[in-house]
Amino acid sequence: MRVGVLTGGGDCPGLNAVIRALVRKGVQEYGHEFVGFRDGWRGPLEGHTKQLDIPAVRGILPRGGTILGSSRTNPLKMEDGVRKVKENLAKHEVDALVAIGGEDTLGVAATLADQYGVPCVGVPKTIDNDLSATDYTFGFDTAVNIATEAIDRLHTTAESHMRVLVIEVMGRHAGWIALHAGLAGGANVILIPEQRFDIDEVCGWVESRFKVRYAPIIVVAEGAMPKDGELVTKDGTLDSFGHVRLSGIGDWLAKEIEKRTGKEARTTVLGHIQRGGTPSAFDRWLATRFGLHAIDAVQDGDFGKMVALRGTDIVRVALGEATAKLKTVDPALYAEAGVFFG
Ligand code: F6P
Repeated sequence: MRVGVLTGGGDCPGLNAVIRALVRKGVQEYGHEFVGFRDGWRGPLEGHTKQLDIPAVRGILPRGGTILGSSRTNPLKMEDGVRKVKENLAKHEVDALVAIGGEDTLGVAATLADQYGVPCVGVPKTIDNDLSATDYTFGFDTAVNIATEAIDRLHTTAESHMRVLVIEVMGRHAGWIALHAGLAGGANVILIPEQRFDIDEVCGWVESRFKVRYAPIIVVAEGAMPKDGELVTKDGTLDSFGHVRLSGIGDWLAKEIEKRTGKEARTTVLGHIQRGGTPSAFDRWLATRFGLHAIDAVQDGDFGKMVALRGTDIVRVALGEATAKLKTVDPALYAEAGVFFG
């Protein structure tokens, strides 16, 4: 078989580990040939390919990013997009396509498989860990480790100056990184998109922390929002999903805390550092297993499926199911962290 591979959406540590596992097992055990498509769905759309064989995947296991490149191109939103994708897949004699991506990339794969008969297998990825069909996505553990290390470092500088330090982490719709890194790093307040926060309550936690002579660390997910409706409409912007969000929630929080408590506050926006660099051992392990199981699905002709982690097993689920629902933080889970606030 000739197998096409693409990586779409925001990059994420572990993508190369998936590509390596697909190619190693595909060539060694099944005798498949591979063709890499460049830059997500733009590759099949415009016919841009990259050689993908055993030498091409040598040494890439610990490398962050993706050797295939990525983009957020969506052929379903383009005139004649599906026709062009199908034409280019036929031109490159592709019998099966493995799409590695998040909600958007896998959504395209689901539609192409279910409505247009394109033989697709999906592999989930996102540092945000917000895909409901899988217990974990690779990239998440690396991002949590990076954010935890940053919080550890912020504790010492916060205490030296007795300042409030706010750290803004990624997570537009789900607060998984904020919750896990916040707990691991001993944050004094964790704010997530799933639950609007009360700025007076946050200031109360800040003040109670200073009373015991410690400087507070606040971890805020980029999609977190205050309760106050006016603030939202005044400073809110629409993101690419059409959701209202405050841009620069970390900066907004620091300013508001300074104004309301008189305490000095600073913000660190961690940004794309969370997505860059070498994957953690867990993410390499998970990404490798996803790659091995995805090529098994191709070999079985089990298309329209995505590999997923359930407990310690890798299972296959319908691609449509994978993108149907966002996995958000359960209120009870978030409440557990509350004992450490203030
Ligand atoms: O979806 C993953 C993610 O890392 C989000 O948490 C973040 O909001 C977004 O990507 C940033 O994407 P971009 O690279 O387009 O700025």
